[in-house]
Amino acid sequence: MTKKQLKKAYNEAAKDFLISRTQANVDTGIYNREIEQPTMFKLVQKNLKNKKLLDAACGPGIHLKEYVKRGAKGFGIDLTPNMIKLAKEYCKGAKFEVGTIEKLKFKDASFDIVTCSLALDHIKDLNKAIKQINRVLKKNGLFIFSIPHPITYMFRDSEKGEFIPTPSYFDDSTRYYKIVQKGKKIPGFPRMIDTYFKILIKNNFEIIDFIESGPKDSWDEKNPKVKILFKIPYFCFFKCRKK
Ligand SMILES: C[S@@+](CC[C@H](N)C(=O)[O-])C[C@H]1O[C@@H](n2cnc3c(N)ncnc32)[C@H](O)[C@@H]1O
Repeated sequence: MTKKQLKKAYNEAAKDFLISRTQANVDTGIYNREIEQPTMFKLVQKNLKNKKLLDAACGPGIHLKEYVKRGAKGFGIDLTPNMIKLAKEYCKGAKFEVGTIEKLKFKDASFDIVTCSLALDHIKDLNKAIKQINRVLKKNGLFIFSIPHPITYMFRDSEKGEFIPTPSYFDDSTRYYKIVQKGKKIPGFPRMIDTYFKILIKNNFEIIDFIESGPKDSWDEKNPKVKILFKIPYFCFFKCRKK
């Protein structure tokens, strides 16, 4: 049921999603534009010439556009048809298909790099997804991904920007939150951060970097309220190598 809800909500939100994540005047995407995207772009190498790169759950192709610009032979898959439709327009030069991370339609050891921005938290069976990513990566291939920092789930329910912890950090039942203003609520599966580490280690990944994102001083002038919300890390990032 939740996967259906997820697909429907992202289908309806796809256009607003692309606008908020790419246009500087839209408040809702500030965290993505100023933190998530630049951090991913730093973790992924500058020169991607001759590298086969899969962006799993690529959305409208925002990240892939940058990777293709760096020379990657880019592939994108996403659960949501409207996201893939937008991606084909927004990011020329990559191949896109509707598909799920849990059932990747690529051969074993076919990619040098797999990236995945802000999607693993939507997947119920994380182990299955990580197994698939490991399968399609070449030996020593890199897996670089971001997730909303699991601690944010504790505060998301209040929707007031106040720091009142609501559920427990240890409670991993499904939560619903908005990804675009006025948008439909999207289901997410909160997990403790050690769950990610354990599943990566179990699936033969070596963790080579881990980042928890902080606030930016420049936000004081732009919108002090935004900075106040950063008493906790909003995103975290993993860079791993297939052993
Ligand atoms: C927050 S959006 C991120 C999109 C893009 N990576 C970005 O950061 O701009 C999450 C995306 O994950 C996709 N998604 C969710 N579950 C998925 C799954 N099981 N397999 C593939 N894509 C999935 C959604 O359709 C949505 O486009």
